[in-house]
Amino acid sequence: MAKDKTVYTCSECGATSARWLGKCPGCDAWNTLVEGVSEAPGSGRNRMAQSHAALAPTLPVTPLSQIEAQEVERHPTGQEELDRVLGGGIAPGSVVLIGGDPGIGKSTLLLQAVDALQRRGLPTLYVTGEESGAQVALRARRLGLEASQVPVLAEIQLEKILATLAQRQPQVAIIDSIQTLYSAELTSAPGSVAQVRECAAHLTRAAKGSGTAIVLVGHVTKEGALAGPRVLEHMVDTVLYFEGDTHSSYRLIRAIKNRFGAVNEIGVFAMTERGLKGVSNPSAIFLSQHPQPVPGSCVMVTLEGTRPMLVEIQALVDTAGPSPRRLSVGLERDRLAMLLAVLHRHAGVACMDQDVFVNAVGGVRISEPAADLAVLLAISSSLRARALPKGFLAFGEIGLAGEVRPAPRGQERLKEAAKLGFKVAVVPKANLPKRADPALEGLSLHGVERVEDALAVLRSLE
Ligand code: TYD
Ligand code: MG
Repeated sequence: MAKDKTVYTCSECGATSARWLGKCPGCDAWNTLVEGVSEAPGSGRNRMAQSHAALAPTLPVTPLSQIEAQEVERHPTGQEELDRVLGGGIAPGSVVLIGGDPGIGKSTLLLQAVDALQRRGLPTLYVTGEESGAQVALRARRLGLEASQVPVLAEIQLEKILATLAQRQPQVAIIDSIQTLYSAELTSAPGSVAQVRECAAHLTRAAKGSGTAIVLVGHVTKEGALAGPRVLEHMVDTVLYFEGDTHSSYRLIRAIKNRFGAVNEIGVFAMTERGLKGVSNPSAIFLSQHPQPVPGSCVMVTLEGTRPMLVEIQALVDTAGPSPRRLSVGLERDRLAMLLAVLHRHAGVACMDQDVFVNAVGGVRISEPAADLAVLLAISSSLRARALPKGFLAFGEIGLAGEVRPAPRGQERLKEAAKLGFKVAVVPKANLPKRADPALEGLSLHGVERVEDALAVLRSLE
């Protein structure tokens, strides 16, 4: 029987080659050939597929309305914040990818979760490719999980892992991490795009076939993409990313994709000496505590997922050298450049000869445009060296024409701010409540339609 053999496929045009080439013979693109396994024409799988296509009977199909849509039963991990981002727990047969910087707490969180599941009598398996069994045991001790019954497998060869999974049939298996695995069928090194993709594809197939839920740990590379270049995101059911500054104790987990729940849902944890603990009321943890207001700081309410959170945006504007720098941490840099242009063109505030740094406190990443107004006001505050009033907050999206657009669910954001004792808010006019709301008592609201209006309101408050 013909043997399956290595083939290189162009990721751009799909052309194939029997050996690796720098330049694709199909589309002339460079470095696009990726190693894979071809099924030879006479090989078992392919021959079967061909004969099936000719011989298979047609199948009946069912209208959607007649398909019984059962809510999938889930395995809650007992970590409420993790369950929230998963959409209520791990769904059987699902594949979850957890990404994040090294050292952020992926292994810690998953060990805690899998231990809780095992304690509830659910068979689990923890496959460690990064650390030895002894290291995992040491971590378990540190986490206070002395009597943990979680079965640990220290292995990096995919075929052996698959065989163990098939034999033990765990309900939940953790693969820590996908980048350390390799398949003996490929010659490339563990962590390469080809290996990561091949291993994840086999594990996904195993999960769907057996009902074992598989959690893949993936390291985010320096460029911010999961190695290899996001190749796994489309394959898995759920993609979660860890956010947060490894130097601060808070960690966020955000659902980027979820076939079993809502996206953008956020789970908040604090790293303690006994592992990660859920933070059930996270609204005020991303504020730095200044005794007096300082220039360059503006608080916003972000609402990604279901819970509003107050986050402090900081800006520092300083005289620049020959080439001014624009740096942002936790906010999009392209957006910063756009805001500076809007500030210049529509409000006459120029930062051309200044370095501009902006930062979202606590290592949070804010991707929603509702942060625009707070970023802009923090920049103007730093530039003028004047602090914003005490108990001040702002949110709203800014457009290229200088208009301030409403943020989704503005009422909820305002209520959260009022609850935490904020006094003054500059917000898009369209976000002002239609009628008086007792929950907003004590918060004085200024609705604005344009950036220049927002700056004028600030001057009037000084
Ligand atoms: P880890 O889970 O190993 O990170 P990852 O798997 O994402 O690479 O987390 C490592 C960090 O967490 C390490 O810097 C130490 C810290 N940590 C604690 O603060 N408390 C603990 O109980 C544990 C186990 C780790
Ligand atoms: Mg780890």
